[in-house]
Amino acid sequence: MSPPDHFEVFYAINPWMDVQQPVDRQLARRQWDSLVEALQQKAGALVSLVDSVEGLPDLVFTANAAFVQGHKAILASFKNVERQPEQAHYQRWLSDHGFEVVLPPVPFEGAGDALMYDGRLVLAGYRQRTEVTAHQLISQQFGLPVLSLELPTAHFYHIDVCLCPLEGGHLLYYPGAFDEYGLRVIEANVPEEKRLATTAQEARNFACNAVQVGRVVLAHQLSARLTEALRRRGFEVISLDLSEFLKAGGSAKCLTLRLN
Ligand code: ARG
Repeated sequence: MSPPDHFEVFYAINPWMDVQQPVDRQLARRQWDSLVEALQQKAGALVSLVDSVEGLPDLVFTANAAFVQGHKAILASFKNVERQPEQAHYQRWLSDHGFEVVLPPVPFEGAGDALMYDGRLVLAGYRQRTEVTAHQLISQQFGLPVLSLELPTAHFYHIDVCLCPLEGGHLLYYPGAFDEYGLRVIEANVPEEKRLATTAQEARNFACNAVQVGRVVLAHQLSARLTEALRRRGFEVISLDLSEFLKAGGSAKCLTLRLN
């Protein structure tokens, strides 16, 4: 994770961002602290930090740093010029911490667009940010099957804002963010009883951008309906307020990168 010391919205690279709508940085800091605290104290996670950098407001969204499995990391290669300087910071952190870093030759936005499902395959998004050919690199490097899902809409520009694999093969996702073919791929690979579809309203509240650690699921203001559905599946649900980060088009999961 990376503290929001320099978090703000001074450019707009997704439809949630509006440079006229100011971010309350102190509130952002308190919200981020509450996420760290819940991860550490309720979910038992170990949190490592990468320094924030002035002029790089989206560096707080460490999900985009890389796709990491074991000691290997496929580094992000950001599509938008505004985020491209983040790459060197993530690269240095990963190398300094013993990861083998692989550089993709095409745009690729890390764990924002590539999610491990059920320990056996990768669900990966493309079109808005990541180039579909980056998916080949994932399967070459990790020997895993990758299911490429097109992201046709600007609001759901990373796969982690519309799809969230959970432990035990469960899958939280927003069907409206995928095309007919993508939905067929999801339905062919995820058993019906494991699929948990969100409504449009829940998805716009970033329900799919949840972090799961063990049986704990953390997300921004989950609806009562989803909270109940997750509890029935055996998860402990923690709802947080991450309103300031929604102004940049991100929420709980975007603020983290899973390293183990
Ligand atoms: N403002 C950032 C961007 O548009 C938000 C990134 C959110 N990260 C994520 N993994 N979805 O790139």
